[in-house]
Amino acid sequence: MAGLEAHYSARDIEARILAALRAAGLNPEQRLSPEDLAALDHFHTGGLRASRELLELAQIRSEHRVLDIGAGLAGPARMLAAALGCRVACLEMSPDYCAGAALLNRLTGLDDRIEVHQGSALDMPFADDSFDAAWMQNVGMNIADKRRLYGEIHRVLKPGGRFAFQEMVAGKAATTYFPLPWATDPADNFLVCVEEMRSVLEGSGFIEELFEDTSDAHLSRTAANAAPAAPGQLGLAVFVDNLARKAGNARRSLEEGQVRLVRGVLRAS
Ligand SMILES: C[S@@+](CC[C@H](N)C(=O)[O-])C[C@H]1O[C@@H](n2cnc3c(N)ncnc32)[C@H](O)[C@@H]1O
Repeated sequence: MAGLEAHYSARDIEARILAALRAAGLNPEQRLSPEDLAALDHFHTGGLRASRELLELAQIRSEHRVLDIGAGLAGPARMLAAALGCRVACLEMSPDYCAGAALLNRLTGLDDRIEVHQGSALDMPFADDSFDAAWMQNVGMNIADKRRLYGEIHRVLKPGGRFAFQEMVAGKAATTYFPLPWATDPADNFLVCVEEMRSVLEGSGFIEELFEDTSDAHLSRTAANAAPAAPGQLGLAVFVDNLARKAGNARRSLEEGQVRLVRGVLRAS
């Protein structure tokens, strides 16, 4: 993938996180709350607000075992575990994000409910029918082989289990502004149109319960020129280079219909 990947070793990323927390006035020697970290670890369009909205829709219950695919620093996983008390397995390709996720799980005291697995969404290290629910935010856009991705999610979900996601999809116009958060240049841009996404999901054995375009709602609720995090404030710039330009290009692409933001909740047949 390109765009939002971390470029640091596990030890570096831990040091960067700890330094960022201290600079923001948080004490990593004391237990932190997941909300304290939201500007740093909800690594997707709409941040914590979008995660909370998806939580309302996803029908996940406390007794569920949940898989968070492409979990990043596991902000959404901690929100789920803290809000619902459920167990969450994070699957994340990048070893450095895995190290950061494990550190933040410990600092929030949620490491007994959240496991971190390094691996690929295209070849998941889990048996068939392992999970009651699957969750994925801003990850499929990094993956070219959607059929295999959705096939793997369906395989590890129990029959009747739900898959909740949000993604960018291709709009009617061609994508012209790069770098984007998920693609440094056009060769990394794996967005498909909404019709193709729905067709591959259905072909993978998912039944739609909800599928909606949230682009306009997102644009109207977020400032066009959101100020980057001030020095000392937590923010994604701790990991992502060129963040302001990537975020600006993503917004412009949304405003001009080059990309659309969608979310859905589907049931595995
Ligand atoms: C934009 S970040 C989103 C992180 C997290 N879902 C969140 O919303 O906070 C995309 C994440 O997907 C991960 N990723 C991309 N391709 C993957 C794959 N094939 N398997 C597992 N993780 C992947 C990246 O390493 C990155 O952490």
